[in-house]
Amino acid sequence: MGSASRKLEKTLVLVGLMGCGKSSVGRRLANALGVGFVDTDDEIEQAAGMRIPEIFERFGEAGFRDGEVKVISRLLSEPPRVMATGGGAFMSPLVRAEVARVGTSVWLRGDLETLWSRVAGKSGRPLLDNDNPKQVLADLMVARYPVYSTADIIVDTRADNSHDVVVKDIIQKLGAYSGKNGEDT
Ligand code: S3P
Repeated sequence: MGSASRKLEKTLVLVGLMGCGKSSVGRRLANALGVGFVDTDDEIEQAAGMRIPEIFERFGEAGFRDGEVKVISRLLSEPPRVMATGGGAFMSPLVRAEVARVGTSVWLRGDLETLWSRVAGKSGRPLLDNDNPKQVLADLMVARYPVYSTADIIVDTRADNSHDVVVKDIIQKLGAYSGKNGEDT
């Protein structure tokens, strides 16, 4: 473990809409800080023994959300690291309360064109598996951005920005946030 990992006091929980780069940025951020990384969607799939589209198909979105809350609560009880969450996770009041208690939330805010450029034509996201996925994304922005905006730290991601730029931004804002909140990192 690097010195950064000893100083990371709380799990950094990346939140934001599909396509904002939570997993890619999360991996790079964990690397830069010398700490572990976990992707909650991967862990949900592992726990269920099936891919997310199949979970939605068999148990509905409500079934997926139940599992999501359980898996995230378990992962948040483990030592601090970087955690990428699925886009709907932070909409759960239970998840938000748990993150507020033991983590630091980071919203990767993206505009519609940026998000769309990253998710268009890709499979594996049941909420976008319909006739007008771009409109769904736009509607989700309206519904979710007010909630994402309650995150502790907010960084902007744009299609023309590399993930490394976002990582640097997070690290810089984390320093300021932690200083204000009496933590080392
Ligand atoms: C969802 C986002 C997905 C995945 C599931 C539901 C959402 O994760 O959890 O398909 O509700 O926004 P990503 O945000 O990583 O695509």
